[in-house]
Amino acid sequence: MCGIVGYVGEREALPIILNSLQRIEYRGYDSCGILVQDNNEGKIHVHKSMKSIAQLKKNMSKSEYAGTLGIGHTRWATHGVPSRRNAHPHFDCDGEIAVVHNGIIENFQALKEGPLSNCRFKSDTDTEVIPHLIHQSLEKFNHQTSQKSSIKDAVRECLSHLKGSYAIIATAKGFDGLVVARKDSPLIIGVGDRENFIASDVPAVLDQTNRIIYLEEGDIAVVKKDSIYIENGDSEVKREEKIIPWTIEDAEKGGYEHFMLKEIHEEPKAIIDTLRGYLSEDGINLGVEFDAGRILMVACGTSYYAALCGKYIIEHLAKVPVQVELASEFNYSDFVLDDMMVMAITQSGETADTLMALKKAKRFGCKTVAITNVVGSTATRIADDTIYVRAGPEIGVAATKSFIVQLVTFYLLGLSRAKMPERELVERIDDLKWIPQLAQVVLDEEDVNIQKHARYLAGYENVFFVGRGVNLSIALEGALKLKEVSYIHAEGYAAGELKHGPFALLTKDTPVIAILSRDHIYEKTLVNVKEIKARGAPVIAIAETGDDEVEKYVDRVIRVPKTSAIFSPIPNTVALHLLAYWTAKARRCEIDKPRNLAKSVTVE
Ligand code: M6R
Repeated sequence: MCGIVGYVGEREALPIILNSLQRIEYRGYDSCGILVQDNNEGKIHVHKSMKSIAQLKKNMSKSEYAGTLGIGHTRWATHGVPSRRNAHPHFDCDGEIAVVHNGIIENFQALKEGPLSNCRFKSDTDTEVIPHLIHQSLEKFNHQTSQKSSIKDAVRECLSHLKGSYAIIATAKGFDGLVVARKDSPLIIGVGDRENFIASDVPAVLDQTNRIIYLEEGDIAVVKKDSIYIENGDSEVKREEKIIPWTIEDAEKGGYEHFMLKEIHEEPKAIIDTLRGYLSEDGINLGVEFDAGRILMVACGTSYYAALCGKYIIEHLAKVPVQVELASEFNYSDFVLDDMMVMAITQSGETADTLMALKKAKRFGCKTVAITNVVGSTATRIADDTIYVRAGPEIGVAATKSFIVQLVTFYLLGLSRAKMPERELVERIDDLKWIPQLAQVVLDEEDVNIQKHARYLAGYENVFFVGRGVNLSIALEGALKLKEVSYIHAEGYAAGELKHGPFALLTKDTPVIAILSRDHIYEKTLVNVKEIKARGAPVIAIAETGDDEVEKYVDRVIRVPKTSAIFSPIPNTVALHLLAYWTAKARRCEIDKPRNLAKSVTVE
């Protein structure tokens, strides 16, 4: 959803800015821009491009873009088509104040037609009003005080005119620092030694520092090479510096061709790390009081499907009723919130719709919990409590390892309040300890068990995914993942629902992937599969090793290890994540950066 970065220090800014941008290209990649300022020469160098950052790295030379202060932007277009003219940074009329921005300025049109009607605009973006407003404020201050006013005060005055969301980095010709501010969009400062870094996300700076300051809502900061000044409202504030446990290796491809494949291969480790955090000899301790009579989960995209699975898991294990709502729908609904506990499920902790849902729940006085992967993210600051899933940085736009550890968290939540005899509980917890191995077995058989089916699937344009019970959400997730990375039209359905309409679409050209775990509705699902076959659609089953029955009725079988029904989503998910990846690979798609998407969706 646009990534912004900044650097001020003693080293050449260009390579640092380009590296940082490349690390957060997942936030948007339809165009990019950089600015480097050479304060010795009093020069500003600007480059905007529709090319990838990798290409810019090859083409731009340090000597041409010399300077020790810089800003950069990688764009996911909202206002204005992807083009060089709409790429950031944007400037005031004199070309002296530069701004990069992530977010949306809702009242930009009114500002353009009102107080800024005399300005010359060069782009169609909402962002461009910001440098013009800063310029106007500076002019006003200079006039009033006959003294060069600080750019920070001008930024603050400018922000008072803006409606919407923003994380911005502003600088001005001849100024030796960066002024940064945030409202409803994330922004961090990476603290270095005689140098400092700014970024939308931690992975942008991980190769330089793990000392991170998370800016809070309404913060404005002036960042120079050896100082960081932060204010909120009228007064200076101190923000705690956090040490981030992620390493740069976590945020690199480590020999894999794509982040998505690397991250699927990290699923067993992510499960182990998450279990280790909360499960010990003494039992399960999530650090959160979990005593509500009812739970509402709000989430978007893959996290929403994880929540749907969580509903089955928690209701099955703990017998606590769980309702799941899409955050974007919940925000504008008349949903009756009573004394329920509201859980926001969000990998990034920055998804705008999910954050709005959290805020709504708080307004209604509900106890709120964020289940997220990102330490210090906005969700953690809004919610009363946080449960961290421990996936490590997830860079691929398609969520994979974060989904699986969200499921792990639901197992832990369910088992922490399990309604079952002690002996059964012990068995379930033992089963839980085995789930990393279940995931690993699927990965170990990737080449023989998945790739050939992916090559087959790559030849089709429409695919259905079906499952039932706890695996319905896994079918939905499988379909989302396939469409997202391979551009094959895919729909997930409850297996029993196809006959209520979608049957009309079944032909020999619409393969159906059927999840056939050995659960209490296995026989029913098998009947559904026979009905599908009878309509001429090819069926690929995801079935347990040793289930020979299934082969009689389907065309192809992807094998997953045997497990108790409630844990079957784990191997099934790994298989479907791999299937999506290898299908996209066979279709030569841009796997880590699917068209039109961005990793964290920080606009409504
Ligand atoms: O960071 P979040 O979990 O809140 O993100 C929610 C969705 O935007 C995200 O899961 C999206 O659907 C993924 N790209 C799917 O792979």
